[in-house]
Amino acid sequence: MTSRPCVLIGNWKMHKTVEEARAFIEQLLDSIHSSDTTCIGLAVPFTVIYPLAEQVKGKAILIGAQNMNDASEGAFTGEIAGSMLKNAGAQFVLLGHSERRHLYHEDDALINRKLKQALHVGLQPILCIGETQKEYAEKRTAEVIQRQLTEGLKELSIEQMKQVMIAYEPVWAIGNGHSAAPFTAQEMLSVCRKTIASFASEEVSQQIAMLYGGSVTPSNAHDLLEQPDIDGLLIGGASLSLESFLAIVNDRYAKIRASQGEMS
Ligand code: PGA
Repeated sequence: MTSRPCVLIGNWKMHKTVEEARAFIEQLLDSIHSSDTTCIGLAVPFTVIYPLAEQVKGKAILIGAQNMNDASEGAFTGEIAGSMLKNAGAQFVLLGHSERRHLYHEDDALINRKLKQALHVGLQPILCIGETQKEYAEKRTAEVIQRQLTEGLKELSIEQMKQVMIAYEPVWAIGNGHSAAPFTAQEMLSVCRKTIASFASEEVSQQIAMLYGGSVTPSNAHDLLEQPDIDGLLIGGASLSLESFLAIVNDRYAKIRASQGEMS
């Protein structure tokens, strides 16, 4: 069986000034340690990428962006290139987040171009997928996520696919306190793995890290992470407060310590 590391990523969305972000990281750094089995990251506003990347240099926190343009450079007022994010110190980028898909009308083809551009400049893409409330009610979840995965990962080589992470975030569960039940999230991530196996290979599908996101809190994180196909979490609201973000991280550390205790 493939053992994939656990990935805990905070998504700050449009929150935090430079001062607020730096203070958060300073305290976070005091509380976390590097681990082979857990990867911690924060997807932050563009304005804080550089200062935070400098602050975490050599430490066990990854700093990433929440969006980028699909072009390498040019006359695109107000946009930002992947190479600029990379140069500022970002290591990963969220692509296709539902707020981008629905508020800014990003479609699968654009997200696919962004993904290729991210890989081209050396940023790890986290492809976000998920169905709306209406699609969920119409029992079209599997069909929607299969399409988003197939189109989003279109024309990628096997090697490129292995560098992508997937975040399944049902739109109806984002930002409202109503997380998907662990069993439901597991079922959908299993569909994701099977879909990737169908157009790539079983090996690729077993290697790719798959995250769940949507109203993750310290009270539901543990049960979600118990699911076999959930390798990590994309945490919005609960990543804004150090207390709740750390509660999720510390629960994970406690689990590692417990399993190490069992092994010794
Ligand atoms: P939430 O956001 O945890 O506040 O629901 C998750 C996300 O949008 O990535």
